[in-house]
Amino acid sequence: MSGKNTRRDLIFADRHMSAVLIENVENCEVDGIVVNLSPEIIEVEGKVNAPIFPWRSTIVRNKQVISARRIAVLKITEIENLGGVMFRGWQWFGEQFAGFPRETPLYVSKIDSVGTVQEDPFAFTREKPVAEPSRRQEFEIRLKCWWSPCETDCFIHTEHPFLEVHTQIHGEGRMQKFRENDASTIYEDVVMMPGFTHEPFCRVTGANEWTYPWHRYYTVREGIWLAIELHPLG
Ligand SMILES: [Fe+2]
Repeated sequence: MSGKNTRRDLIFADRHMSAVLIENVENCEVDGIVVNLSPEIIEVEGKVNAPIFPWRSTIVRNKQVISARRIAVLKITEIENLGGVMFRGWQWFGEQFAGFPRETPLYVSKIDSVGTVQEDPFAFTREKPVAEPSRRQEFEIRLKCWWSPCETDCFIHTEHPFLEVHTQIHGEGRMQKFRENDASTIYEDVVMMPGFTHEPFCRVTGANEWTYPWHRYYTVREGIWLAIELHPLG
């Protein structure tokens, strides 16, 4: 059994952005955007203690997370030249995804695999209010960050062999859903501001099969957002 409040930098941490993984959290003071990477509700101390639901987040200012299996804490620490991610090892997304539009300035950090979790996919998608132990399965949690300048169409897509949500770290964007692969068919526009994680928006449609609507991230102002992906194991 490892100790309490064990921490390490995430792979995309640099002098512009502090990004720390903390595990076996117990009365741990934090300052930044706290993402709950646990399948349980966690609590932050305050005048009145407040919950952070599984796979959700909030901004915490110098307060303690009372107890959590695993959290990430992110904070922008140097705004000048924040957008130079392509000179700090982040890759233009077209290097990883053939056919990505060459004129789209979307960059992605390296991926950090932060551990495994037993989660009920129906609880993740909110199709069931509570996790059922018999439906729990093992997932690998992968984190990565995205960056784009203002007014960037980060590509409409629909297929993911994993569960995903995103947390806004810096700037402002939208998580948008579409009836078809066509921006004019938008039917939901979720405001993404720092500290916020959108609700999951896929449905469980089979074993390790999740159906997503056509969706995209759209940058309103220069932004960094964190992708939280649960990849099925076994
Ligand atoms: Fe997606």
